[in-house]
Amino acid sequence: MTLRKKLIAGNWKMNKTPADGVALVSELVAAIGKQTDVDVVVCPPFTALESVGRGIDDANFKLGAQNMHFEASGAFTGEIAAPMLRALFVTHVILGHSERRALFGETDAFINQKVIAALKNQLRPILCVGETLAEREAGDTLKVVQTQVEAGLEGVGKDQAPNLIIAYEPVWAIGTGKVATVDQAQEVHAFIRGLLTKLFGETIAQKVRILYGGSMKPSNAPELLAQKDIDGGLIGGASLEARSFVDLVKAAAEAK
Ligand code: 13P
Repeated sequence: MTLRKKLIAGNWKMNKTPADGVALVSELVAAIGKQTDVDVVVCPPFTALESVGRGIDDANFKLGAQNMHFEASGAFTGEIAAPMLRALFVTHVILGHSERRALFGETDAFINQKVIAALKNQLRPILCVGETLAEREAGDTLKVVQTQVEAGLEGVGKDQAPNLIIAYEPVWAIGTGKVATVDQAQEVHAFIRGLLTKLFGETIAQKVRILYGGSMKPSNAPELLAQKDIDGGLIGGASLEARSFVDLVKAAAEAK
């Protein structure tokens, strides 16, 4: 019996206007707004944070952003700071997503600065890690994940560590329909738990949620969520439709 409450987060990526987002969350609120078995986080684009935030006012949902800058303000054209997110009642922030690493050149050191800044501003980072197909085929999966976890969490103190959320997202499984097998996923999740144990000790490591991401959908979720170290999901495509997202939250509620 795990002490960790399951968490399902929807990463909408670059999809949905404010109006589209409000329409989606109104369906989610009607279906699962009052459930308390699973932590639910919706992560719209910046432009929809405010209206979606209002749309989930009466629900048990949390609001997440998909990125942020580590500085609190200044000459950083096009960037968004933690205090701006806090002002919109954002509580979570996805950091180091593989799309940001691959398409926008984000490095572990850069992501680490964001993790530190998020924690300092009472935002819970969802730190994403995961190997590419080439790295998996070369047998480097655990080495890559170790580097991303250790470098991403450098300087995080034990007092802050319980607020962390890690997402293991094998890059080859994102948006491809190719899901990691339960054994592949559980192996990496257990490995990450071991890294957290080394960094923060057993008690804290047992509290940190480790989400799986990569083509997770209602059909494959029950098996994945039944694994000992898989504490939820970071959902891309299947978070854009009310029915599939609702079914994922229900699958998490039923997972033991
Ligand atoms: P998909 O669920 O579309 O594969 O995306 C996963 C993801 O990248 C979530 O952050």
